[in-house]
This record gives sequence, C-alpha cells and structure tokens, in this order.
Amino acid sequence: MSERTERSEGRERMPSQHPMGVPVTGRAASGAPATAWHAAWLPSAAFRALGSRDVLVHGDGALVDTVVAEVTRACAGHGGRVWHCPTWDVDADLVLASRTAGPIPNAAAEKVRLDATPVVNGAGDGSLGAEGFLLARVDGVTVVLADAPAGLLYGLFHVVRLGATAFDGDLPAQRHRPALARRVLDHWDNVAVHPVSGQVERGYAGGSLFWRDGAARREPARLRDYARLLAACGVNAITVNNVNVHDTEARLLTDRLDEVAEVADVLRPYGIRVHLSVTFAAPMVLGGLPTADPADGRVDAWWAEATRRVYQRIPDFGGYLVKADSEGRPGPFAYGRDHADGANLLARALAPHGGVVRWRAFVYDHRQDWRDRSTDRARAAHDHFAPLDGRFADNVILQVKYGPVDFQPREPVSPVLAAMPSTRLAMEVQVTQEYTGQQRHVCHLGPWWSEVLRFAPWGAAGQTIADVIGGESGGGLVAVSNVGDDPYWTGHPLAQANLYAFGRLAWDPRLEPGAILDEWIGLTWLPVTTGDPELVRRTLHAIMDDSWRTYERYTAPLGVGFMVRPGHHYGPDVDGYEYTPWGTYHFADRDGVGVDRTRASGTGFTGQYPAPWSQVYESLRRCPDELLLFFHHVPYGHVLHSGRTVIQHIYDTHFAGVEEVAAMRERWALLTGAVDPAVHERVAERLDEQFRSAVEWRDQVNTYFFRKSGVPDAHGRRIH
Ligand code: GCU
Repeated sequence: MSERTERSEGRERMPSQHPMGVPVTGRAASGAPATAWHAAWLPSAAFRALGSRDVLVHGDGALVDTVVAEVTRACAGHGGRVWHCPTWDVDADLVLASRTAGPIPNAAAEKVRLDATPVVNGAGDGSLGAEGFLLARVDGVTVVLADAPAGLLYGLFHVVRLGATAFDGDLPAQRHRPALARRVLDHWDNVAVHPVSGQVERGYAGGSLFWRDGAARREPARLRDYARLLAACGVNAITVNNVNVHDTEARLLTDRLDEVAEVADVLRPYGIRVHLSVTFAAPMVLGGLPTADPADGRVDAWWAEATRRVYQRIPDFGGYLVKADSEGRPGPFAYGRDHADGANLLARALAPHGGVVRWRAFVYDHRQDWRDRSTDRARAAHDHFAPLDGRFADNVILQVKYGPVDFQPREPVSPVLAAMPSTRLAMEVQVTQEYTGQQRHVCHLGPWWSEVLRFAPWGAAGQTIADVIGGESGGGLVAVSNVGDDPYWTGHPLAQANLYAFGRLAWDPRLEPGAILDEWIGLTWLPVTTGDPELVRRTLHAIMDDSWRTYERYTAPLGVGFMVRPGHHYGPDVDGYEYTPWGTYHFADRDGVGVDRTRASGTGFTGQYPAPWSQVYESLRRCPDELLLFFHHVPYGHVLHSGRTVIQHIYDTHFAGVEEVAAMRERWALLTGAVDPAVHERVAERLDEQFRSAVEWRDQVNTYFFRKSGVPDAHGRRIH
C-alpha cells in the first residue's frame, strides 16, 4: 500500500471511530503567515512530514503547550491533526508524551513507555533528565517520550529534523540527552548605540533583536521566531547584553529590569533562560556606594538585594556574566582582591536562587610594551586563573575562550581548560565572525569547533575538551551570537549554518560537522525549481565544507594570527598590531617569523600544557604545522612536515585560497534560478566581496613576506 493511501484511509477512519474526538485543529487552508524575516531552518516545508500526520500530545505544562502550538501550526499547514490529552484511545501516527503524565491513550506508545526503562537501561541509568527524550517507532507509530516538558520540545524538533524518515519502518528505542547541560548564546548587544562599537559590538547582521537606540524593541513575534530557531538547534540560554557593560546597559539590572523580563517571557516557552551581563562596579554605578570591594559588607548586601529583586521579577533567571579586570572593565584588582573573591561575591548573591555567575577568563595586559619580549598575552589567562583552582564557589562557572589569545581562525586550545579540575569550566567560541570574515566571507566554523571539542589535552586516552565542559555540572559551551535584525538573521545567509552548528555541537559534540551541515541544508534549502534537487545540496557542501580552511589559507599563516586591520579587524594589515600595546605580534624579520613560546628559549607558554602536548608543542620537530608559528620563531627556509618550506607554504596557501574562493563563486553562479533569487543575490554579492578581500589578503601577505625574506616563489607567480 502506498503511503498516500494508508494516510488518507487513516484520516477517514478517525472521526467515526472516535465520535467525541474533536481534534485541536482541523485541516486549515492557509499556511503560516509570511514574515519579513527568513524562516532559516524552520520553513513550513520542514514540517511537512510531521504536519501531515495525526499527532497525539500527552502531558501538561507551559512547554507542552508550546509543543501543541508547534504541532497545531504544522498541521494547519500540511493537513494533519493534533489531539492534546484526550481520554479516548487515539489512532495517531506520532505520539509525543510525557512519561510522568501517566498511561498514554495509545497502545503503541504505551507499549514503548512500559518497555522503555529496560531498553534504555542498556545505555546508562535509563533516565532522560530535564531535557532528554526517547524516540522509538513500533507498530507504525512514532513515539517520543520525555520525563520533563523540555525533552518533549527537543523531541519534537528532532522529529522535524528527521522528516519523512521519522515515519519509516521500525525503530528500536533510542535515548537522546544533551552532552552539555549549558548551551548558551551571548549577545554582545548594546541598549544604547555605542560611539565606537555601535548597537551590537562585533555585530555583522544589522541591529539588535532586543534593543534599538536606547530603548527596548518590544517585537515579540520576531523574538518568538528567534526562540523557535534556538530551541530547534538546542540552545537553552541567552545573554541579552554585551559583556562590555556601559552606563545605560548597567541599568538592566535594576530600574530597566522589566525590559529583560519581557524578553524572558517570550523566550521561556521555548525552554530558553535569560542571563544578564553586569558590571562589577554596579554597587557604585547603580547603588551609590563608595566602593565595589568584595570584602565590604555593604557591597555584599547590595548584590544580595539587587539579585533578590531580579528573581522576584524573573523566577527562572539564569545568572550573571562578568568581564572584570579585562580590557579596562572594572574588577576586584582595584581593591587588592583576586578573581575568586570577585566571582564568589556574585555567587553568594545568586546561590539562594539557583543562579550561576559566569566569570570570563579573558584577562590580560592590554597595555603592554611591544618591546618587552618576556610578556606573553597567551600566558595570561592561565597565569591569572590556574592558581585559583578550587577557590571558586560551586555556582561559579569560569568561561574560557577556546584559544589562549582571542578567537583567531587557528590557535591551540587554551591550556586553562586542562588546568582547573576543581572549577566548573565553560568554553567560549565566537559564532559572530569577528576574525573569520565578518559574515562577508563564507567560513563554516563547525569543523573548527569540532576539532577543539575533540581535543584531548592529556593525550588520546584521556578526557576531551567536550568531557571537561560537559555533563550536568560542567559549564557548557557558550558562543558570541552572530544574529541581528537582518532579514536573514545573520547577514550572510550561509552564516546561519554556524549558529545551527553551534547549537547541535553543544547538544552532541560527537556529531560530524559535515552531517550537521547536511541537516541544516536539508531543512533550510528547499530548491525552488523542479530541476536536480540534489544540486543545491552538493553545491552548498562544495562551497562550505572546507571554507574555514580556505579562509585560513588566504589569511595569517601557520597559526601566527592577527594580521588584521586594527580596530575593526577586517582585511589584512600584516604589521597593523606589531608595534601596539595589544600583545599580538608575529616578529617577522628578514630571517624568519613566529613567536617563540618554548620553555627552552621563549616565553615558556608550552609549559602550561600537560603532557603530551607540553612536549609536542615545545618540539620544533613534533609541533603540528598549522600551529608552528604560534609556538616557534623559525627561518623562512624551515621545512614543514608537508615537505615545503615556510615561505613556500605561505605563497602556495595564499594562491590556493584565492583560487578556492573563485571556485566558490563559480559554483554559486550555477544555482541561479535554483534558489530564492533574493538569497541568491545576497550570497553572490558577498562572494564578490570575499573574492576581492581574499585577493587583497593574498597580495599583501605574499608581498610582505617576499620583501622581508627576498625569497622568490618557486613557481614564479606574480608577487608585488
Ligand atoms: C575581542 C573583541 C572585543 C571584545 C573582547 C571580549 O577583543 O575584539 O570587541 O570585547 O574580545 O571578548 O571581551
């Protein structure tokens, strides 16, 4: 029997079998209303398989209501029907049920419920936790079970991802639980437009979704769609303002708290909790106290009272994010206290309410003398924080950037992540593409984050970074958001894939980045023509799969980092930071390039790693090529593992990178007419700019090193 016949028969049968069975919705004629913003990975068509079925939702609570609303909307668009907690036996194709809501009025689902505990016991303790779900398909019924409403919501979006395959054949019970409890997106949004950093610091996707020109935007429809997208990829918390907390933003904690509460109200139905960046100086700036000293009782009392008011207004408030004693922000150093004293002050205020303080480890001297070769910015976070291990309160999470310097396209993994076993650690990545092409360049970052998450600091047999930040008590994965009020959310439509990949990797760091990209393509890119439906998929893979490495090839070589224009950080400027106080140098001279961070003759940074990496990075022979110039200063003639000299590698990769961008453009041109013309035009424009910029990078970097070294290109290509 064809699927079509089976389905229509099922639908015909239902009303007569269940005379009282009035579904929540019938087959509504129209689809969802069109919006001024792109549907991203939740277009109506992505719900087709689910929305054309008969669906039973069993359970109660606000998040279950969200599940019912989602299924209702899907069925309205695609002809299915939904029942919510009926007392009769419903002949459904899909059952989404809370295990705690008692027997399920569906025989197949009930069978799965009763069998489930022994089945999942084989793979752990059998519990599904606060966010997990169990998926099975028996007797032609797809069953999603959860122990908590959030699990049902994540299960629903999993079924959306699976599409028609969710309704295909039998499926033994599979348990899905997030590997990381905290999956957080930090918005660097300012409430008031900042004279230097604008409405969104390092934002490349228009304005903020929350704030405009000093005021709250109050656009719940758009925020709700944002919440849907986040929940559908697994994100469960956001921070609504910039880590650099200026005067206007400081007040979100007190007299502007209602504006934060309004955002929290919209996001809550999608299981997303709201956090706030706060200034360490808040007791002075907002409370009129003469000090913010953590040892002063008045300061403690001020934070306790401010925090009590926050929870009174937002009972599920997530916590505070703090950038202290970093790039000029106030912090505990002013009072002779350390970071543990500072973080624990806020932790004391949050603890009674179940909140956490995320304290950033991005602390270094941004006023260093470039002549001083002994100060190494890469060492700073470990120097400051490793000695404090064990001193932080239980509800402090130390938030560590993935690399020791600053979100570069290639850095070693921060040694802090391997140095603090008695501290809850979170890792921070940058979805916003500050150093990776600012959402004008295609740079798919999933493979990079995957590499970092899989890194095993104690050697292959030991824990990975994902283990360190994972589990219920781990600090989780955090990203700086790349979203704004741009109609495509992320400026570059292909940058949506980075947000999606972040959420999916935070849920399960073992996922293959190529498979995640494939999921995103499948959901987002439905061909508009009847031509080869696989063309779009193939082309997007060809353009995006390796795009991070392409970006790496035409920018700063071999892990040396920073050769960007100071300030805005877009485009090449090889010596832009070389004689500045910012601590990001490459030390190129006529003989060689790179930073000596060895114990033997350099800054000793390699000693911050445990074995085996402390030895691997120390050794010129064993150090991986891609990080060579991060750890060593070498002559241009040094031969890499690849067999090429450093100088020839620089020339070759820069020529290759530009050719790859040219190929991306050609591939994209083939999709004319196969995708939405507006999207096509937006991407085409950006690829033109990427090509222009890549040529500029190639020519400036190659010319610079040719002039320094005097070594010609072995292939005689044009260098200026
Ligand atoms: C980078 C970025 C800043 C940001 C800082 C941070 O330095 O350029 O805009 O404030 O990181 O992470 O705090």
